[in-house]
Amino acid sequence: MAVVRGEFTSRFGFLMAATGSAVGLGNIWGFPTNAASNGGGAFLFTYLILTFALAYPALMAELIIGRYARANAVTALKTISRGPKSRLLAIAVGFVGILTVSLILSFYAIVSGWMIAFFFDPLARFLGMDGVAQWLTEDAELRNSIFVTLFMILTVFIISAGVRDGIEKWASRMMPSLIIILILLILYVLTLPGAMDGLRVYLVPDFSRVANPQLLVDAMGQAFFSLSLGVGTMLVYGSYISKQENLPTLGGLVALLDVGIAVLAGMLILPAMYVALASGVEIFDESGGLIAGPGLIVSVLPALFNSMDSVGMFVAMAFFLLMTIAALTSSISMLEVPVAYAIENHGVERRNAAITIGSVITVISLILVFNFNPLFDLVVTYTTEYSQPLLGLFFCIFVAWIWRRDDILQEIKQGCPEAEAGFFWKIWPFYVKFICPLAILAVYFQS
Ligand code: TRP
Repeated sequence: MAVVRGEFTSRFGFLMAATGSAVGLGNIWGFPTNAASNGGGAFLFTYLILTFALAYPALMAELIIGRYARANAVTALKTISRGPKSRLLAIAVGFVGILTVSLILSFYAIVSGWMIAFFFDPLARFLGMDGVAQWLTEDAELRNSIFVTLFMILTVFIISAGVRDGIEKWASRMMPSLIIILILLILYVLTLPGAMDGLRVYLVPDFSRVANPQLLVDAMGQAFFSLSLGVGTMLVYGSYISKQENLPTLGGLVALLDVGIAVLAGMLILPAMYVALASGVEIFDESGGLIAGPGLIVSVLPALFNSMDSVGMFVAMAFFLLMTIAALTSSISMLEVPVAYAIENHGVERRNAAITIGSVITVISLILVFNFNPLFDLVVTYTTEYSQPLLGLFFCIFVAWIWRRDDILQEIKQGCPEAEAGFFWKIWPFYVKFICPLAILAVYFQS
């Protein structure tokens, strides 16, 4: 059954959607804390290099396959296969990708639900509803179930509306707001006592740490997670890009914006932690490192906001709105992966696909909520540390070892006619063929 496929209406629309996918809890929460516990500027430095040397080439692989095939991940990989064996591999990689991204969404939605709950907390306090405020901020199964469901409803609502009226429209509204809120928060926090200590911890590199293998593993994981790689998200978004667009430039802009917002987020989170320290909040854990896990977002920062008296309420709401927006523009890109598959390969209508698949993922989320220990960590580890990098490896193999080089060049030339003589075509094929797979394998075996 032929289905009319959506397409982003403008370059800006694609950029906001893809940057929205990339910029998420991983940037605003994961990156700054990773940097803090891995030698500050040294981590930043390594992360920048890995993003442009490894993650950007892998991102390009997905965007190019997607736009060439104009299809979801399973079909797209099948299209570029060249025999029965690679077709089988295509189906396997496509399906494991769909499964992985669905599981990522199931835990991501739980954390995103916390962000919504914490957004309402200052409001409840302001209205004198202390009981409600306490309920909102206490880690309980009922609260988590309600807010994960709420977050999934928002995600399904946007995806139901389609590529142009859902993803593009909402990303184009939310991403500029995110950047404005982030900058305002940074400007405010930097005026507070203690902020400069945080900035120093973040930006002054401890270069003795660069050679540390753990730093490399963390930086690469961060780079792959942050650019939403390996599971077909960027492939699907790539399939909605117009043939007139210059792919290497667009991909480069997405990587730049992603890194730029991560770096900015570091200028908010670390100064905020040291401001908290200056006002008496504990920011170190038992082992002497900075508190990095959920404790940072759901205890250190709220304690800081509470100590700020009247402005604290606005700062807290702005911060959790920022987190919710970041989460939502990412979650829609995850749900789009299975939804596009169901629409294109099984003729399901978009709304039905979004609601059905969204419901199944919500049920998985609820299972995680009620079996938080040990399931939550298990799913996070399995999906982000094992499945994602391995799938990224297979995407590189498909592009560099299976797909015809001529087809790739023809695809890049659309929207970039001078590509063959350009810098990108000189370097990138070699990168995805040798450097990316080897680097991913090296890191994989180390972890
Ligand atoms: N990149 C997002 C973040 O940094 C998360 C994300 C969106 C993602 N889509 C993904 C992660 C696909 C892995 C796979 O928070």
